[in-house]
Amino acid sequence: MRALQLPTGGEMPVLGLGTWRMGEDAKRRAEEVKAVREAIALGYRLIDTAEMYGEGGAETVLGQAIGEALRANDVRREELFIVSKVYPHNASRRGTRDACERSLKRLGLDKMDLYLLHWRGSHPLRETVAAMHSLVSDGRIAHWGVSNFDVDDMQELAEATGDGPACAANQVYLSLGERGPEFSLLPWQRERGMPLMAYSPIDQGALAEDDGLADLAARLGVTAAQLALAAVISRPGVAAIPKAVRSAHLKENLAAAGLKLDAQTLAELDRLHPPPRRKTPLAMI
Ligand SMILES: NC(=O)c1ccc[n+]([C@@H]2O[C@H](COP(=O)([O-])OP(=O)(O)OC[C@H]3O[C@@H](n4cnc5c(N)ncnc54)[C@H](OP(=O)(O)O)[C@@H]3O)[C@@H](O)[C@H]2O)c1
Repeated sequence: MRALQLPTGGEMPVLGLGTWRMGEDAKRRAEEVKAVREAIALGYRLIDTAEMYGEGGAETVLGQAIGEALRANDVRREELFIVSKVYPHNASRRGTRDACERSLKRLGLDKMDLYLLHWRGSHPLRETVAAMHSLVSDGRIAHWGVSNFDVDDMQELAEATGDGPACAANQVYLSLGERGPEFSLLPWQRERGMPLMAYSPIDQGALAEDDGLADLAARLGVTAAQLALAAVISRPGVAAIPKAVRSAHLKENLAAAGLKLDAQTLAELDRLHPPPRRKTPLAMI
């Protein structure tokens, strides 16, 4: 699979698996662990989670699936790119470090590949960044980043970062239905070689039901969800993390990473879901 270069070295696959809504109900746990295991067996390497998802439950599901996959030799640890996030209310200098340790424990890992501030809260950015830098130097995380940051937040963050390792990625809501970040945030990040991770890239399943998209997708011999994903990752510097539990969805979404859209298809997509003409506030789910 194609990968994006990180500004801090290393790379991240352009398509991964989201885990929001996993780990919320013990009755669904076996099905969710099975889904993550299947994802890894199919070839997913980037997996996104957060301490918020199921209040640690999603990290626990992921930890169990990773442990089983490693023991079964389905994958080697260094092939995986595991992302989690700290709650803003935990993102003090000390709190970020403690939250990271709790996440690592639930994930059953010694080190996370990318650790994000989930959204801006009341703790000063300087404190969160200092904690992130210390986690990098202690080898507990390989890279750090943010989520739900707009251009003005990114500018403030750059000032707070000083000489330490740079922010490696910003994860925001970007899909064919929500193209706002394409106007100024994505260009800002591209100039700095900083990947944008698109969350809810199929609008939480809604784009799979989009009639216009479905017609165009049928003509191309793919599904509407695949077209929605291929469109998002066709933008340079963008990775997508669709969440799926159903086997058919996992397979469809992974295959979307291999689709190439020609200029005519991209123009048709712009007609169906026009790009932004002006700056709009960053949307959040
Ligand atoms: N940083 C943030 O603030 C933030 C916010 C939101 C999300 N996220 C991350 O981004 C991930 C993805 O976003 P999301 O979960 O909100 O929405 P999404 O990935 O756009 O959509 C997930 C929904 O779409 C369904 N689906 C998946 N593949 C499909 C396909 N090929 N055809 C039809 N339906 C399909 C899934 O069903 P099944 O599960 O039944 O297969 C699920 O109901 C999250 O899981 C999370 O990791 C981050």
